[in-house]
Amino acid sequence: MQIRVLGSAAGGGFPQWNCACLNCQGVRSGTIRAQARTQESVAVGNDLGDWFVLNASPEIRHHIESFDCLHPQSARGTPIQGILLTNGDLDHCLGLLSLRESEPIRVYATGSVWRGFTGDNVLFRTLDRFAGQVSYVPLELDRQRPLIGRDGRDSGLVVQAIAVPGKLPIHLAGHHPSPEDNVALRVTEASSGKCLAYIPAAANLDRDVERAVERADTVFFDGTFWSSDELIQQGLGDKRAEDMAHWPVGGSHGSLRWLGGLSSVQRVFIHINNTNPMLREDSPEHRAVVDAGVSIAHDGMQLCL
Ligand code: MLT
Ligand code: MN
Ligand code: ZN
Repeated sequence: MQIRVLGSAAGGGFPQWNCACLNCQGVRSGTIRAQARTQESVAVGNDLGDWFVLNASPEIRHHIESFDCLHPQSARGTPIQGILLTNGDLDHCLGLLSLRESEPIRVYATGSVWRGFTGDNVLFRTLDRFAGQVSYVPLELDRQRPLIGRDGRDSGLVVQAIAVPGKLPIHLAGHHPSPEDNVALRVTEASSGKCLAYIPAAANLDRDVERAVERADTVFFDGTFWSSDELIQQGLGDKRAEDMAHWPVGGSHGSLRWLGGLSSVQRVFIHINNTNPMLREDSPEHRAVVDAGVSIAHDGMQLCL
């Protein structure tokens, strides 16, 4: 199984258009040691050149152009066999609306994520102009589902969605929450048994998060914030990481402590907010992550399981 990080930043990207925090200003001016990053998305491929994209970032057009395995091989077409969603946040779904050039696409998502995106959404009509333009494949919690290519061929990859602590997207605040609102995706290659656990948003550690990473070979995990009060400390907002359903990386109760203990697994932080000090390659926070044996995803990072 091939894994390519298309985008590694949280919503807003790095730098973020309206942000002049230490990191954003520094990466713009080249005065800090850090790489710019686009909004999170990862492509997963089999040995046949079939690719599935996890989360449709607002930067999906750039993501496709940035990776030649996702370029069309014929006058019209795409090697992208399907798109899988972990939740309904705009940084994970907006890209779908950019794929409106009459190419049939398959979207794998839980019922609540799919209803949240399509319900009362007049913009979705642009993806619903002919029968089969978008084929929706429901992901039922815990159930293994083969990933099928555009021509109906089995890709040899299997996905399982596991509910993990999260929240509804901002535009659905006040709606009835469901365990299907935020999921971990376990993608397994049937032939080798190799497994990727993809969890770009998790509010805390619970039994389901533990289950989602069980026997995985590689874990991508929520690296949004270093600390709970990161936005408040930097004068950028009044929300704590917990209010946004992101488990902070640092501190004695942080996710790094937990991930650091899973030493037999390849571990990668993704969905990194532009305010996170671990983005600065000479920071003590960056050092702490590396010392714990965990990687920090960057755009263009490639892994082979
Ligand atoms: C998040 O990851 O918490 C969301 O993307 C926030 C947002 O939609 O702005
Ligand atoms: Mn996000
Ligand atoms: Zn910033």
